[in-house]
Parts: sequence; C-alpha cells; structure tokens
Amino acid sequence: MNIAQSGDHIVSSSSVYGGTYNLFKYTLPKLGIEVTFVEDQDDLGAWQAAVRPNTKAFFGETIANPKINILDIEGVAGVAHTNGLPLIVDNTVASPYLIRPFEHGADIVVHSATKFLGGHGTVIAGAIVDGGKFPWSKHVDKFPGLTEPDPSYHGASYTGVLGDPIAYIIKARVQLLRDLGAAVSPDNAFGLIQGIETLSLRMERHSANALAVAQWLEAHDQVAAVNYAALPSSPWNKAASKYSPLGVGAVLSFEIKGGVNAGRALVDSVSLFSHVANIGDVRSLIIHPASTTHSQLTPEQQLTTGVTPGLVRLSVGLEHIDDILADLESGFQAAKKAK
Ligand SMILES: Cc1ncc(COP(=O)(O)O)c(C=O)c1O
Repeated sequence: MNIAQSGDHIVSSSSVYGGTYNLFKYTLPKLGIEVTFVEDQDDLGAWQAAVRPNTKAFFGETIANPKINILDIEGVAGVAHTNGLPLIVDNTVASPYLIRPFEHGADIVVHSATKFLGGHGTVIAGAIVDGGKFPWSKHVDKFPGLTEPDPSYHGASYTGVLGDPIAYIIKARVQLLRDLGAAVSPDNAFGLIQGIETLSLRMERHSANALAVAQWLEAHDQVAAVNYAALPSSPWNKAASKYSPLGVGAVLSFEIKGGVNAGRALVDSVSLFSHVANIGDVRSLIIHPASTTHSQLTPEQQLTTGVTPGLVRLSVGLEHIDDILADLESGFQAAKKAK
C-alpha cells in the first residue's frame, strides 16, 4: 500500500505464505488493487507476461513453503527493473543471516520478525527494509504517492524532500504507520533486539539440524519425498548454493507414506516437537496441514495449494540432533500402526 492504490496492480509468485496469499487474493482486490499470481516463479517469461501498464511491484519469498523453493532473486529483479518496477521480497524463512537479497537486486525486503529474528516464539513484529537503490523519481508517473506532494504532510514530496534512497521507507513510517498503527510494542521490541543478538548462531544450528533431519528422512522407508533445498535431490539445490550458501534454514517438509491418517498419527505421537502452526522457534515444531490448517478445504483444493495428504512440515529447532531424530522415529512407529 506504500506504492499501490486503488486501480493499481501487482505481480506475485503464488508460492507465498497462506496469509499473504489471502491478503493478495481477497483483501487487496476489495481495496481496488489487483494481483496476478505467477504459478511457476522460475519462469521469468511468466513474470514479464503478467506486467500491465498499472503494475507497481513484483513480490516473492526468498525461501517458500511447503516446497522450500528458492527464488531466483537476480532473474526476477532483472525483469522487474526492465519494466521500471521494484522487487519486494519476504526473507522471513531465510533471515538476513542466510540470504542477503539486496546483493542480488531486490529493492525492498520484508520480514515477519515473529519468526527467526525474534527467534523464541515470544514476539509479534514485522520489518520493512529499504535497499535505497530504486530510482523512484525516474518513474514520476508510476509512483505519484512518493513523487507528488502529500497534502497530509504539508505538501511535501517524499522523493523531492528526502531523495530516492529513503523516500519509500520514510513514507511507510510517517504516513502508513501513522494512519494504520501497526507499531511494535516496547516489550516486543526488547525481545526482538535480544533475539537478533544470537541470530547467526541459531541459524547455523537450525540449518545443520534441518539438513541432518532431511538426509535422515530421505533414507527413511516410510518417507515418499523430502523438500529441502540443501539436498542434492532438490530442484532448487543450485539456487540454494548461489543465494543461501551458509545453509537453507530450519523449515522443511516431507511426504509420509500412508496419507492423512499416517500424517496425523505422526504429529500426535511426537513429544519433543510442538504441534503448532508457527515457524522459527528455538524448539522443534511440526504440523500436518491436511488435518489442521487446510482441513476445511476439499482434497482437490488442498492439492492446488501444494498440500498433499501425507505432507508434514517441520521447523527444526536447536535441540540435540539425536533427540530430534529419536522423537521423529517414535512418530514414525506410531504412523506405521495408523489406519
Ligand atoms: C514467510 C512468512 N511471511 C509472513 C508471515 C506472517 O507473519 P506474522 O504473523 O508475523 O504477520 C509468515 C507467518 O507465518 C511467514 O511464514
């Protein structure tokens, strides 16, 4: 909403967090902002084909759920810039420690700080980071909210008074934060600062534990498939080495043989893993979307969102790897008996 208003359009990958998908698919259109979803975010031609004269931005996630696919930041930013558009990326799953999107051409980075930045499942916050490189004032007609006088701020033009490098982020603060009130509480801000102090250590351990779990799952006879970009079997393994060379973080998903009942039994019988929809806690977290978050959808609808009957998602925590694997194995034993 900082650069798009009623009558405008944005292009987003369809591979985004469910809450973001709903915002784009249902809520933004009610405000007059249309969104085109690119179904295969690796197809740069599809991004180009979705551009309209009223398009204001491209949006994607650097590491997305549940496929753990890695966005080709450089490629998508290239298409965006050719069309005079900024690329906005959600870097929540990677965190700034694993992926540095500005170095690959992204213009604005957003985070749910509720996840790895806070790190302990105790903070609700978000962050917008402006890379400061996008030339808003070269596209005066496209971004009038930044370039034309703001009557609610003594007629100042953000690019005119502040310059391109901080126009976007200052407008987000002095106009949208002022009017919409999405401010972080002092206690949450304190928790967030404390969390960020250990971000690098946590992301290293999350990534090492998650890789060990992914390798173990791939060798397990009750597992049909594992989604984790650090595995050589992942279609995004090359992209992971390029964009996320230190590891691909805590989140992975896998398909358990035996469908919905096996998935439910596994999730119900683990004890170290907490059964919650969150990600990015120090503790290991597990969810079986088909019997929980997506249970109101028909099986066909579930499939279109990427949720197969036996799909299980993990956010692997910082516990000792032996404890994590032992807990998962007890879940698999229970899943074997499920009918
Ligand atoms: C990738 C991603 N982006 C954004 C969000 C939204 O975060 P919040 O609930 O802090 O607004 C989530 C939450 O699950 C997420 O996983």
